Amino acid sequence: MNKKIKWGILSTGHISNKFAKALAILPQAKLIAVASRNLSKAKAFAKEHNVIKAYASYKELAEDHEIDVVYIGTPHSFHFDDSVLCMRNGKAVLCEKAFTINADEAREMVRIAREENVFLMEAMIPRHIPLLKKVMQWIKDGKIGEVRMLKASRCARGVFAAGARHLDPSLGGGSLLDVGVYVISFASQIFGKAPIEAIGLSHIGHLGSDEQGIAILKYDKGELADLSFALRTNAVDEAYILGTEGCIKIHEVFAVPTKASLFIDNLEVETLEEPIIGNALNYEAEEVMRCLQKGLKESALMPLDESIEIMEVMDTIRKPWALRYPNDKE
Ligand SMILES: NC(=O)c1ccc[n+]([C@@H]2O[C@H](COP(=O)([O-])OP(=O)(O)OC[C@H]3O[C@@H](n4cnc5c(N)ncnc54)[C@H](OP(=O)(O)O)[C@@H]3O)[C@@H](O)[C@H]2O)c1
Repeated sequence: MNKKIKWGILSTGHISNKFAKALAILPQAKLIAVASRNLSKAKAFAKEHNVIKAYASYKELAEDHEIDVVYIGTPHSFHFDDSVLCMRNGKAVLCEKAFTINADEAREMVRIAREENVFLMEAMIPRHIPLLKKVMQWIKDGKIGEVRMLKASRCARGVFAAGARHLDPSLGGGSLLDVGVYVISFASQIFGKAPIEAIGLSHIGHLGSDEQGIAILKYDKGELADLSFALRTNAVDEAYILGTEGCIKIHEVFAVPTKASLFIDNLEVETLEEPIIGNALNYEAEEVMRCLQKGLKESALMPLDESIEIMEVMDTIRKPWALRYPNDKE
């Protein structure tokens, strides 16, 4: 039988709590340590999630020899530093989306993973959702012919506490990196290549970050993606994959869906339904552990070069916007 994989969680915010709950339902996972910038927060998290070790610094967690893999749940602006800290200490890393702030950081992070010969993966949930895997099979089977267009939306009107990371440019806040990354990553998955053109418009709100945006991507054979993303605007978050012979609708919420429909000539001819088990983060944790058990250094479901390409597309889209992050070189 495969040995248990020992996890550490770096930071104690919203998504780290969800990730701890996800690990709790996986028999092959053991969450053994958590770190916070603040010992009392680490201890409270450890108590709630039944974790043995609570550290008062991320460095102590990175240096713990017992840990196999670290989950990075800090704001985007720290993904590079926190992932590198862990990888330089020989740890495998699952890093939250957006992978980094910009493509420069992404390229360097991947270079370091390869230099250290450690596993690294961007935590992009949709890649691991069972229903979306079946949708990808529909496409491979030619059910909609040649894929020509994609329309996808990832929008919500969030209620954020004062100082929350979501719209704070100093923490990489804004809709493009926070939720736009889902639709851009989805376009990359559907078309299986990088776009030849990427343009976008956004509204920069009073906090100095993009509250909503639209991106259009064009691919080498004329394929197009029409993508919307927002943190302060309501929407029905569906996706439509349009082909020469038919169309696939992924019902709300497209990033974590349970239903997809196949339309031929505007008639629904097939439906897929598949429940989400757990809180969905368990699927990506399972993929990490599958890769670690096999000695793989990256996952074919979210390849590292593709994570870099996605950051390059987002850099291109936001270049004309009045939006620069502290981590940007120019
Ligand atoms: N996959 C998903 O479904 C999903 C959903 C939500 C968020 N995310 C991603 O997860 C990351 C964290 O999001 P979140 O919503 O969990 O954020 P959050 O609730 O604000 O938590 C972030 C944590 O990062 C740590 N941190 C370190 N330096 C910080 C700083 N200067 N300011 C604020 N926090 C700092 C803090 O932990 P300590 O105080 O313990 O050090 C904090 O609790 C983001 O990159 C986001 O895109 C993913």
